[in-house]
Amino acid sequence: MRVPESQDKAVADHYVAYPYPTRDPAYEAKRLIEGSPSRLAEVEHYLFQGHLPSPFRALVAGGGTGDGAIQLAQHMASRGLEGEVVWLDLSPASQAVAEARAEVRGLTNIRFVQGSLLEAKALVGGDFDYVDCCGVLHHLDEPEAGLAALKAVLKPDGGMGVMVYGALGRRGVYDMQEMAETLAPTDLPPEQRLAIGQRLFKDLPASNWLKRNPFVRDHLDGGEAGFYDLLLHARDRAYTVSDFAALAACASMSVVSFIEPARYEPAVYLTDPKLIAATSVLSPLDRAILAERLAGNMTTHVAYLADVAHAGDAAAQPSDLNWVPVLRDPESRDALANAARSGKLVADTMGVKLTRIFPRRAPAILRRVDGVSALSDILRDIRKADASLTDDAFLRDFQALFSGLNGLNLMWLRRAD
Ligand SMILES: C[S@@+](CC[C@H](N)C(=O)[O-])C[C@H]1O[C@@H](n2cnc3c(N)ncnc32)[C@H](O)[C@@H]1O
Repeated sequence: MRVPESQDKAVADHYVAYPYPTRDPAYEAKRLIEGSPSRLAEVEHYLFQGHLPSPFRALVAGGGTGDGAIQLAQHMASRGLEGEVVWLDLSPASQAVAEARAEVRGLTNIRFVQGSLLEAKALVGGDFDYVDCCGVLHHLDEPEAGLAALKAVLKPDGGMGVMVYGALGRRGVYDMQEMAETLAPTDLPPEQRLAIGQRLFKDLPASNWLKRNPFVRDHLDGGEAGFYDLLLHARDRAYTVSDFAALAACASMSVVSFIEPARYEPAVYLTDPKLIAATSVLSPLDRAILAERLAGNMTTHVAYLADVAHAGDAAAQPSDLNWVPVLRDPESRDALANAARSGKLVADTMGVKLTRIFPRRAPAILRRVDGVSALSDILRDIRKADASLTDDAFLRDFQALFSGLNGLNLMWLRRAD
C-alpha cells in the first residue's frame, strides 16, 4: 500500500504534537535506555568483524526523542571511542527532548541537525561508518528512496541498524488505522484524532483482531504518544521478512543478521525431526521467511544491513582463540553460568519458549567471561584444572555456547587487541 505525499504534513504534525517515544530527560540520571539496534558492542560484532573503526562516525536518522543517539554516544564516551553521533530528524519537539537527555548525561559527542533524512547528504555530509534508522523508513512515502539516501552517506564498508514494523505480528493494527481514518481523518488536529481514536478503541468488540493480538502493546503501555503512533499514524506500512529483504536489495544491501537471530530459525519452533531436516537445507533468508510465518509474533524486524559485497563477512565468527566474548548483560553472568549447569536455557520470547542447549564446559567458560579476557586467556585458566583440554575441544564447546547465547542476542565477539 502506497500512501500519498499529502500525508507528509500529517506525519510532521503528529511528531510535533506527540514526540515519540515519550521520554523524561530526568530519567537519564537513573539509567541508560538500551536496545537494538545500536548497542555499540552489538554494532561492532555484526558489522565490523568485532573491531570498530576509530574515530567512529554514526548517523541516527529519524533520531526522535533520542534513544539511539543517546545510547550510541554514551557507549562511545564510556569506551573512550573518538568520533561523533549525528541526530537528524524533522521534529523540533523531539529534538528538545533528545538534547535535554544529552545534557543530563553531559554528552558532548552528539550533533543535532533538523531536517529530512531524504536530504541527509546535503544536511550532514557523508562518510558515516554506521547509520541507525529505527522505526522510520516505514513512515516515509518512499522507503526505498529513504534507504538509498542513507546508503549514500555510508562508507562502502560501513553498515546500518534498521528497524521496520513486522506485518504478521501487527494483525489488527491496520484495520484500526483505517477505521480511524474514516472516523477521525488526518486533516483534524492530532488532539481531536486522539480523542476519537481512544473512544473507538474502548468500543471495539471482543472479536476485533487488535483486541485479540497480545503482541502489540504501545496503545496500552506507551501513553498518548504510543497510542497515536500505533493506531493513528497517517502513514505506516509493515514488512514481511521477504518484503524487508527486497527493500534492502533496492539499495544493494543484504541482511547480515536479524535480531534476535534464533527467532529467525524455524528449528526453534518445530519439534518434528523430519520438518527440521527439511528446513535446514533452505537458505538463511528462506528460513527467516518460514520462521516469521511459524511464529506469527514478530511486530518488528530489527536487522543489521551491509552492502551486498561484504554483508557475508561483516559479522564476527568464533573461528579461533583471539576473540573476546562479550555478554550483553554482564550482571547476568552468574545466573547464566548456573543455568548452563542444567545443560539448557529456556527463554520466553513473545509467547514462545526458545530452548538453547549448552555444552559441558559452558559453566566454566561463562564464569570467566568478563568482556576483556580473550578465549586464549579463558582456556589457559580452565587448563589449570583440566590440563588435557585441547584447543579444538575448547573451541568446539565455546562455539556451541556462543551459538546458544548469540541466538538470543546475549553474547557478541570483539577482536582481541
Ligand atoms: C517512530 S519515531 C522513531 C524515533 C527513534 N528512531 C526511536 O527509535 O526512538 C519516528 C521518527 O522519524 C521522524 N521522521 C519521519 N520522517 C522523517 C524524515 N523524512 N526525515 C527525518 N526524520 C523523519 C519523526 O519525526 C519521528 O521522530
